[in-house]
Amino acid sequence: MPVFETSSAAETRSLGRRLAASLKPGCVVAFYGALGAGKTTMIKGIAEGLGVRETVKSPSYVMATVYEGVLPVSHVDLYRVSGPEGLGSIDLEGYISEKGVCLIEWADRAEETLPEERISVHIEFSGTGRKVRIQGLEVLPD
Ligand SMILES: Nc1ncnc2c1ncn2[C@@H]1O[C@H](COP(=O)(O)OP(=O)(O)OP(=O)(O)O)[C@@H](O)[C@H]1O
Ligand SMILES: [Mg+2]
Repeated sequence: MPVFETSSAAETRSLGRRLAASLKPGCVVAFYGALGAGKTTMIKGIAEGLGVRETVKSPSYVMATVYEGVLPVSHVDLYRVSGPEGLGSIDLEGYISEKGVCLIEWADRAEETLPEERISVHIEFSGTGRKVRIQGLEVLPD
């Protein structure tokens, strides 16, 4: 499992750009990490890498946004979902498509609903930086 230490938001974002190059249509990427860990920051980099020109913002209030890049990029934020019944308020499966990629923040809130075949990104605070573990990929090409 590829593991990285990033010492700034810019580095996390650039790691996102790198990960974007490994994503194919239909990919689901689940993000795990505490408040402020850097999930949205990394997703901004992925979107950039996939050619999204629009500014990616945290979709907390709308729960999901679909951007157009070289393929559709769904950004889902499950922060406000609590318990399995809370998931009823969002059509998560509707945002997972064979044509695009689906990036899910607070994925632990939907663990049961997530496809088994996915990439999981775990971000932890590490000193003043972050430790980023990418599960579901053997290597992350440069
Ligand atoms: N190494 C780093 N990687 C990512 N973000 C960093 C890093 N160092 C500092 N930061 C800062 O931490 C914050 C991360 O915010 P971000 O919105 O990406 O987190 P998040 O995990 O999406 O939070 P939330 O749970 O609220 O959705 C930003 O203010 C960013 O500038
Ligand atoms: Mg966020």
